[in-house]
Amino acid sequence: MEDNKTDKCCTESKQLNLGQSYWNKQYESNTTGWDLGEVSPPLKAYIDQIQNKNCRILIPGCGNTYEADYLLQQDFTNITIIDIAPILVENLKNKYADNPNIHIILGDFFTLHGQFDLIIEQTFFCALNPSLRESYVKKMNELLAPNGKLMGVLFDRTFEIDGPPFGGNQEEYKKLFEANFDFIHFMPCYNSYHKRANTELFILLQKK
Ligand SMILES: C[S@@+](CC[C@H](N)C(=O)[O-])C[C@H]1O[C@@H](n2cnc3c(N)ncnc32)[C@H](O)[C@@H]1O
Repeated sequence: MEDNKTDKCCTESKQLNLGQSYWNKQYESNTTGWDLGEVSPPLKAYIDQIQNKNCRILIPGCGNTYEADYLLQQDFTNITIIDIAPILVENLKNKYADNPNIHIILGDFFTLHGQFDLIIEQTFFCALNPSLRESYVKKMNELLAPNGKLMGVLFDRTFEIDGPPFGGNQEEYKKLFEANFDFIHFMPCYNSYHKRANTELFILLQKK
């Protein structure tokens, strides 16, 4: 998966089953064009104003998770990350070995159980087959504790080549989330990573 339209894996993805072996292969072959190499700026800005460092945070489809790195640097104590790709998760387990503040799960987000105060969205939604979007919304709602929030960015654009990434727009997302979430922020993102400027929405949605 890659933001730009020239990435070869995208041209093949229509036929692909976007399951564990697909994602594992992307890490194995280092075809990780989505990887920013740093914490996503809008997510960092939100994290910077969180007061309770013990809140329960989940990062699904975490990838190399610069967001978790940042949270740990900021002394957050209850971070859970989950990804379906074994090669990636093995690396993360080595990287964070013996760190009690982060829980690392190899698994499918859709079968995860737990309760979280904050779930962080960073190029996970767009990586999923759009047929899973309603399930994504329901699962996010289920995993959030009362008053819990889903925070992150969603692409506000289409892609010429069928994904991943799969795009969308504000109107479409509004219809998708409105039954399960109140919209605290749902607006064009002003502080995106520079290569994604003017293509993202910042979302802060509260569980209904
Ligand atoms: C486009 S990557 C984004 C990774 C990371 N969030 C980032 O922005 O760098 C999508 C990630 O979702 C993971 N993934 C895809 N389907 C998943 C699922 N059902 N459950 C958990 N992780 C999944 C993939 O392995 C991959 O790491």
